Amino acid sequence: MASYAIYLYIASTIFFILGIKRLSKVRTARSGNTYASIGMLLAILGVLMQGNHLELEWLIPALVIGAALGHQLATRVAMTAMPELVAAFNGVGGAASAFVAAAELFSLKARFARGAELNESLGGNASLPVNMVELAPIIAITLPITVLIGMATLTGSGVAYFKLSGTNVKHPFGASARPAVHGLLILAIVAISAWLAYSAGASATIALLVLLALSAVAGHFLVTPIGGADMPVVVALLNSLSGVAAAASGFVIGNQLLIVAGALVGASGLILTQIMCKAMNRSLGNVLKGGVGDGEVAEDAREYSNIKETSPEEVAMLFDGATSVIFVPGYGLAVAQAQHVCAELASELEKRDVDVRYAIHPVAGRMPGHMNVLLAEADAPYEKLWELERINGDFQNTDVVVVLGANDVVNPAAREDANSPIAGMPILDVDFAATVVVVKRSLSPGYAGIKNPLFEKDNTLMVFMDAKQALQEMVDEVKDL
Ligand code: TAP
Repeated sequence: MASYAIYLYIASTIFFILGIKRLSKVRTARSGNTYASIGMLLAILGVLMQGNHLELEWLIPALVIGAALGHQLATRVAMTAMPELVAAFNGVGGAASAFVAAAELFSLKARFARGAELNESLGGNASLPVNMVELAPIIAITLPITVLIGMATLTGSGVAYFKLSGTNVKHPFGASARPAVHGLLILAIVAISAWLAYSAGASATIALLVLLALSAVAGHFLVTPIGGADMPVVVALLNSLSGVAAAASGFVIGNQLLIVAGALVGASGLILTQIMCKAMNRSLGNVLKGGVGDGEVAEDAREYSNIKETSPEEVAMLFDGATSVIFVPGYGLAVAQAQHVCAELASELEKRDVDVRYAIHPVAGRMPGHMNVLLAEADAPYEKLWELERINGDFQNTDVVVVLGANDVVNPAAREDANSPIAGMPILDVDFAATVVVVKRSLSPGYAGIKNPLFEKDNTLMVFMDAKQALQEMVDEVKDL
């Protein structure tokens, strides 16, 4: 029976790979989730078949509780709280790997104790391993790494969770003292890991507990200096780290599937991190250095002149004479939960032979794919969702662009002002359209906390309303045309 487990592991790996592949396209993302879930089911069956030291009286309640909790969390979470949920999942993933490694150490300790006893009783004729280095250098290296990355992922994700939900967690040391404190912490972690690798018995337990504590501090110190606006990037990075921790724990307990699945998560999380950094024109080092997007607002962020206000009724009249309309959703659309009424307006316009599309910026909203998920929920046709590179050249031939709760991703300062904090960030060139309608509640800045010169352009009209309310009024007016 146990030998068949390897076939389930291979099938599970194939489903994981297909799942990740399908998640990279909007059209196939839902089925990607299903593929990955099947992969996980096969993995669990494989572990059960292998049957190594499994205590079903613990395992079955854990499976039932875990599945029930996961179902409740995923079905009840508000769309705007999704990044927090992902952060929490990463954290518990990291913790699980750290605890697997810690549990393995306790069974190794029992083995080392027996080895020491036998070595002594046979008077040097037996040379059984009495610590991790003697047992296998790979375990001596991967066990402390698993504890370190797993625990750091747990506390780092905890900090990310609070920052995403608006609570700023602060680093206990000032910026000038941090390099020295971080350097000392790294040295202490390396020293304690070496101690753990060479120790057995009570000293191994102490080394493990100290390593767990130092790793938890490291995760906290890593994430606290980073600004709230960069948390989605941090969450992707922590996702990658939780994968690395899982792969390392696979080496510790000798499970090939954990190594493969962990490596897949580690690599895909890192690729996603890079895609997000590129979309913001920032390096990962710059993000980790921190200090950007800490909720600080530029002094001139609300100083505007030449603002022209309009109403949903007048926007409906603009639609009446338009042949092409592009909607640009942003974070405000998610806050207003206006995706359904947006899709309704799009279909009303299409009934009037208007060509309607949605322009999707890769970092619009607060998590990767945020806008795609929102619009998919409202059944907006996939082929109408155009990515930045594909749609940017079309704005100049578009009659009306409606910016819905987006701000930074349409800020022309990124293109025009070399001194802007977002200089060089690829943006949607909405200002090239004949008319731009911006729907937002006020002249408040977006996440970057800076002024948006788009609002002052001659072809821009502002609708100062909640996105859902404005769109609903536009639908009513369009129906009356
Ligand atoms: P933002 O620049 O954050 O602007 C959102 C706008 O929505 C705000 O200016 C706000 O203005 C408006 N708003 C809020 N609630 C609203 C409502 N109920 N109705 C109408 N409007 C509402 O959003 P964005 O353009 O989507 O850009 C995303 C930002 O997050 C970028 O800076 C990006 O770099 C950053 N970020 C994103 C990610 C990912 S993965 N998405 C990762 C890292 C960083 P009012 O308050 O005036 O209404």
